[in-house]
Amino acid sequence: MFATVLPSEQIPNFLPDDLFEAIAALKKDLNAVILAHYYQDPDIQDIADYIGDSLGLARQAAATNAETIVFAGVHFMAETAKILNPDKLVLLPDLNAGCSLADSCPPDAFARFKAAHPDHVVVSYINCTAAIKAMSDIICTSSNAVSIVNQIPLEQPIIFAPDRNLGRYVMEQTGRELVLWDGSCIVHENFSEKKIVQLQIEHPEAETIAHPECEPPILRHADYIGSTTALLKYAQTSDNSAFIVATEPGIIHQMQKQMPQKQFIPAPPTQNCACNECPHMRLNTLEKLYLAMKHRTPEITMPEEIRLAALRPIERMLEMSV
Ligand code: 13P
Ligand code: SF4
Repeated sequence: MFATVLPSEQIPNFLPDDLFEAIAALKKDLNAVILAHYYQDPDIQDIADYIGDSLGLARQAAATNAETIVFAGVHFMAETAKILNPDKLVLLPDLNAGCSLADSCPPDAFARFKAAHPDHVVVSYINCTAAIKAMSDIICTSSNAVSIVNQIPLEQPIIFAPDRNLGRYVMEQTGRELVLWDGSCIVHENFSEKKIVQLQIEHPEAETIAHPECEPPILRHADYIGSTTALLKYAQTSDNSAFIVATEPGIIHQMQKQMPQKQFIPAPPTQNCACNECPHMRLNTLEKLYLAMKHRTPEITMPEEIRLAALRPIERMLEMSV
C-alpha cells in the first residue's frame, strides 16, 4: 500500500477550535514574537506582543531576541524586519499583503529618476520595497520624516520618495524644497473633504486628527497631523472627548480599547464603500497567521546584496531618530 503525498497547497488546513490558544502554543514552540501594525484586524491586534507604527515596529524588530518574527503587517514592513534580522525566520501571514504606495515606485523608473538628480541625497519613506531602500541614503517614517530632513544640511538637495503627500507635508514643516517622487497611498487619498467638513459641522466638539499620507485639502482641516502612534498618543493626552480620525480605521480598535470613554468617528471615504480599509493589510487574518506559524511559511527572503544595501539607510534612520 502506498501513501499519497499531497503537494503543499493541497494539504488540508485544519483549524483548531481556539485559535488564540493554538497561536500562543506555537509562539512558545517557535520562540516567536508577533509584531502587528494598527491597521490589522482587531483579533490580530489582540494577540500581538507589540502593536505600533512603522518606526516602533522597526525598532522592535531590531531589538527582539526571538528566533521567529511573525509580522502582521504588509510586505515592506516584514521585509524591513528581515533586513534587520537576516538569521531569523520572518513570517508574513499572507505574502500578497503588499502596499499601493510601495508599488507606485518601481525600481527601474526610480533608478532613472535618481540618475537625473545626481547631487541629491535620497530620503525614502519606509513604505517602499527593499530595492528602493537599497537605492536610498536614509529611510524615514511618518513619525520622524520632518526631524530627519531637518538634520540634513540646508545646502544639500534632497529627493523624497515615494509618497508625494508626506513629501509635501515635510516641505511645509521644514521650509525645504524637496524633489518629490509622485507616489501615493490609495487608502489615504480616498477621504472625502466634503464629508469631513459635514462631520465637523455635526460634531463641533470633535477634533480632526489625520495621517500625513492624506492629501493637502484633508490635512488643512486637521487639528493634529501625525503617524498612527502619534495620533493615538494625541487622543490620549488631549482634553477633547471626540475625534474624527482620518487614517485607516483599524487604529480605532486600539483607540477605543485604550480610551473607552472617548468617541472616535472614522473619516468617510468619497464613495459608500469600505475603501479606507487597507485592502493589503486586511489580507492577513488570524487563521492565516496561525497557519503561517504552523507551517513556518510564507517566509520573507531576499538576495543578500539587496539586504545589505537596504540595511545601511535603515540603520541611519535608527541612529538619527533617538
Ligand atoms: P505609520 O503607522 O508609520 O504612521 O504608517 C502608516 C501606514 O500607512 C503604514 O502603511
Ligand atoms: Fe500601503 Fe496605504 Fe495600505 Fe499603508 S495604508 S499599507 S501606505 S496602501
